[in-house]
Amino acid sequence: MIRTKIENLIRKFVSKETSFSVVYPSRKEYGDYSVFLPLKEAKIVQEKIERERPHFLEKTEIVPPGFLNFYLKKDFLIKTLKKILKEKERFGSQRSKNTVLIDYSSPNIAKSFGIGHLRSTIIGQALYNIYKFLGWRCIGINHLGDWGTQFGKLIYQIKRKKISLKSLTIDKMEKLYVQFHKEAKENPEIEEKARWWFKKLEQGDKEAKKIWRVCKKASLKEFDRIYRLLGVKFDYILGESFYKDKTKEVVEELKKKKIVHQSQGALIVEFPDKQLPPAMILKSDGSTTYFVRDLAAIKYRLKRWNPDLFIYEVGADQTLYFKQLFRVVELLKWKGKKRFVHIAHGLIRSKEGKFSTREGKTIHLEEVLEEAIRRARKIIEKSETSKNLSEREKIKICKVVGIGGIKYQDLSSYHTKDIIFDWNKILTLKGNSGPYLQYTYARSRSVLKKAKTIRKNFKTLSLCNFEIKPEEMEILRTIYKFPEVVEDAGYNFSPNLICEFAFKLAQRYNLFYELYPIIEAENSKIRDFRLALSAAVSQILKNSLSLLGIEVLEKM
Ligand code: ARG
Repeated sequence: MIRTKIENLIRKFVSKETSFSVVYPSRKEYGDYSVFLPLKEAKIVQEKIERERPHFLEKTEIVPPGFLNFYLKKDFLIKTLKKILKEKERFGSQRSKNTVLIDYSSPNIAKSFGIGHLRSTIIGQALYNIYKFLGWRCIGINHLGDWGTQFGKLIYQIKRKKISLKSLTIDKMEKLYVQFHKEAKENPEIEEKARWWFKKLEQGDKEAKKIWRVCKKASLKEFDRIYRLLGVKFDYILGESFYKDKTKEVVEELKKKKIVHQSQGALIVEFPDKQLPPAMILKSDGSTTYFVRDLAAIKYRLKRWNPDLFIYEVGADQTLYFKQLFRVVELLKWKGKKRFVHIAHGLIRSKEGKFSTREGKTIHLEEVLEEAIRRARKIIEKSETSKNLSEREKIKICKVVGIGGIKYQDLSSYHTKDIIFDWNKILTLKGNSGPYLQYTYARSRSVLKKAKTIRKNFKTLSLCNFEIKPEEMEILRTIYKFPEVVEDAGYNFSPNLICEFAFKLAQRYNLFYELYPIIEAENSKIRDFRLALSAAVSQILKNSLSLLGIEVLEKM
């Protein structure tokens, strides 16, 4: 990677104490990379680099008060263009010996899949794809919320209202919850009954287990439908219930290492420095908590996969929780050199503020996805190009565009930020959106299809013995960066960097497309070059979108 090469060069020539970072300049006049150093040092570095003059460098320039700018050679950019065409979807992929475990999506059963779990699902899957591309062994886990006191409530309601298990749907279960909470306000002792049922469930009571199993099955049926629609996959669906008999061992270890103590009957951790509030390990009736099940999951995961990195893609409302959890992992001395990160995502809000229905209920994700597909249909029906499409093609296109739009809006803003849900932005063909990128891809593909015969000439494309237009140059100066952008996106847990990159590339390609004839270019050399450029752009757009989990279309 060129950026790494430049970094290494600079490191060779600066004094040990100097810290620096190589960045992409904000303006194209400043070259392809820039580093800020004390002016004297910048001059020394420049001199030494100029003496070595690596093959990819055209020139370097100093801009006071200490910027050292690097300009890449046209030759190098053309070579990279060819490399893209040769390596195709492998361009930029890496090898690594590391393992990452990604805990994502993880909805709670017996509740419908709300829009709240969308971000975890989409960002988690994108991080999975990115790390895989970077060569890591990836373990993707859906830590399903299928255990906890809430099932006590549900079982209590099902028993009391004599609900037939065969008729259970998520909707019904949700209603039962809502009723429970209403009733508990007037009649608080039913909370006790619910706890009692959960305790029975933990002790393996046959009837409780049977009801729980039916609830889980009905929920998974709905979740599966959504995962299929979203094209999201997991290596393992290991819910919290999987760890229920693995918590004992953890409790023993916590006791042995003197990390826990009794407090009003419950077992809690108090943190030595009191920086964090205490965390509950076992409730006063001895039942397990979300916390201890997470600890048991970590122990299990360490033993089974020994990951170097743990990523938890979970909402920002659990920030404190994960601080406590990771701290306990340290206290247990499980951490070693491993990294534990919580990728905390913000909320999805509506323009009016909170994102909920008029009755204040959560928005069902499935309804949102269906709405996206319906709205995509309206756009497609209106477009010129849809005239020759068959009904089957239209259905496919609407799905890819609708779902792609939803995913893109989720991924394109930095994960900690809240998202303002806006249909007009999600499904626009003009602007930073999924459909815009898909459209640009289809556009570049259609040029290539029209020019079938000429594509063979890419390999013999000669090196820069013709004039390259500034807009073409800008494309070359963008596409070669793809591997670096993917690396940044992975190591900073920021798929939004890939969105930004792809959007910029699409804009540059569209500008070029509007300015210059491709198939009708002045001569065959230029035509071949422009086709090669189009092929590389479509490849890089496709690679970017595929890392984001967004499909592309050959026509739309
Ligand atoms: N089910 C939880 C929730 O919806 C998220 C679980 C996240 N993963 C974990 N290992 N705690 O809030």
